[in-house]
Amino acid sequence: MIKKVSVQDLKEGMYVCDFDRPWLETGFLFHHFLIKTDKQIEKIRRYCSHVYIDTDKGEDVMTAVSAGEADKKIEQEMKETIQQTLIREPSPEDKINFDIEIKEAKKAYTQSKEVIKNVMHDVRMGRIISSGDAKKAVNNMTDSIMRNRDALLCLTQLKSKDEYTSFHSINVCILCLAFGRHMGYSEIELKSLGIGALLHDTGKMKIPQEILNKPGNLTDNEFEIMKKHPVYSAEILGKTAGIPQKSIVVAIQHHERHNGTGYPNGLKGEQIDVFGSLSSIADVYDAITSNRVYHNALLPHEALKRMYEWGEKDFHKGLIEQFIKCVGIYPPGTVIKLQTGEIGIVISVNRANVLKPRVAVVIDSQNKRYTPPKTLDMSKGGGNWNIKEIIEPTSCGINPQEIMKGLLVDQIGV
Ligand SMILES: [Fe+2]
Repeated sequence: MIKKVSVQDLKEGMYVCDFDRPWLETGFLFHHFLIKTDKQIEKIRRYCSHVYIDTDKGEDVMTAVSAGEADKKIEQEMKETIQQTLIREPSPEDKINFDIEIKEAKKAYTQSKEVIKNVMHDVRMGRIISSGDAKKAVNNMTDSIMRNRDALLCLTQLKSKDEYTSFHSINVCILCLAFGRHMGYSEIELKSLGIGALLHDTGKMKIPQEILNKPGNLTDNEFEIMKKHPVYSAEILGKTAGIPQKSIVVAIQHHERHNGTGYPNGLKGEQIDVFGSLSSIADVYDAITSNRVYHNALLPHEALKRMYEWGEKDFHKGLIEQFIKCVGIYPPGTVIKLQTGEIGIVISVNRANVLKPRVAVVIDSQNKRYTPPKTLDMSKGGGNWNIKEIIEPTSCGINPQEIMKGLLVDQIGV
């Protein structure tokens, strides 16, 4: 059985099978291992509040609860906290509706994809990059987010394992812009945040390919090299004319953590600029919802639950709550069952009523597939549509990322 254990209850002989934070940030070589020394326990305590143990492969502990029970408790707490404030304080609707804005969002997205590919190529070739195209791309994305925050946000579901860094850079930029707008920053501030977010990982192009693309298990030495990429990103942006100082702060601070366990400078709490904190949340959310060589993507609502749980340790708890409010308790990509028995995927949040998102209905109440999926705005039709539950996509044989991709390509030709 998988159990959730406080790090204070760890002892030799237990088999660790997961951490309470992204594995790559723990400095451990493996996801799964048997605890053999006190030194390992000390290291786990430094990074985590609790871990998950497999009691079939190692020692048990009586004080722990099953991972399922612990999960339900967290989900309940998160829902209550976020749902209450969202219902009490609904965001105003955007001026431009989703169907109109999605076309402009697509243009901005396609342009940004081209720009980031070229920038990454230039950095790899050792060339000085020009800020002009990146600024234009970020201006267009900012304009789109200001008109309607959900159209661009929906496009962050487009992910590619092969071109991870480019897609990740755009997604982090979009998430930061939406988050920044949600937090009330001005357009000028959003543009500085967006440029830093779009270019935050340019320093990775200075990391040897064999380390960057290694399928997990980095050695301590390789991990130290990897940890230099925010410094390289800041150096690249510092040498580029026309990059705002705040954008450089985003690049160097996007791996800092609230409790000081981040890198490169181990900054703590207030030492981290708020733009650094916003970008670290966006960065982790996109990273853990993407398939990588060393981990399978978490579902969007699972990712939010984990990040809520990491709360104060890795992030500022208040900011995490704001982020969840920004992307919604049913974030785009979430698979849900309606009370009618139909199954669908959330395309975008309805700001006026977060419990009734826009959905692509994939399976009807008789368990037959809709081809193509049927678009449903749950807030329309007298408000009779209700979500029964979030479901595991594997339980109904659908792949949300593939369906979202198909839907976006069919509808807007991305
Ligand atoms: Fe990074």
